[in-house]
Amino acid sequence: MNQLTVCEGCCCGKEFKGNPKILHDYYRKQIKEKGLQEDLQLNVVYCLGICDPANVIKFTFGKEALYFGWINEEKDIDNALDFAKEKIMNNNVDLENFSELGKKKLNIY
Ligand code: FES
Repeated sequence: MNQLTVCEGCCCGKEFKGNPKILHDYYRKQIKEKGLQEDLQLNVVYCLGICDPANVIKFTFGKEALYFGWINEEKDIDNALDFAKEKIMNNNVDLENFSELGKKKLNIY
């Protein structure tokens, strides 16, 4: 099962640290509206260990993991889920086609 892991830990989602709160309802609503509920499992975890680019998410597509930072607004979530939908339907999708999201990709090794 493909997974979307949304971080809500010591920094992500913490307004007192200047990071917007996590839009849980919006994630759930958009996953349903985009027809992804059977293909993408939503998890929320405490900290992914890369706090600086909060708010951080991680997609897991099989053995491939992709991290993105600064997923703060509804449009960021839309872009991320549109990318995930394309990725699930066509594994060779190019992140270049999602330029706003591409700028938020984190290089984690
Ligand atoms: S709190 Fe999100 S990466 Fe640490």
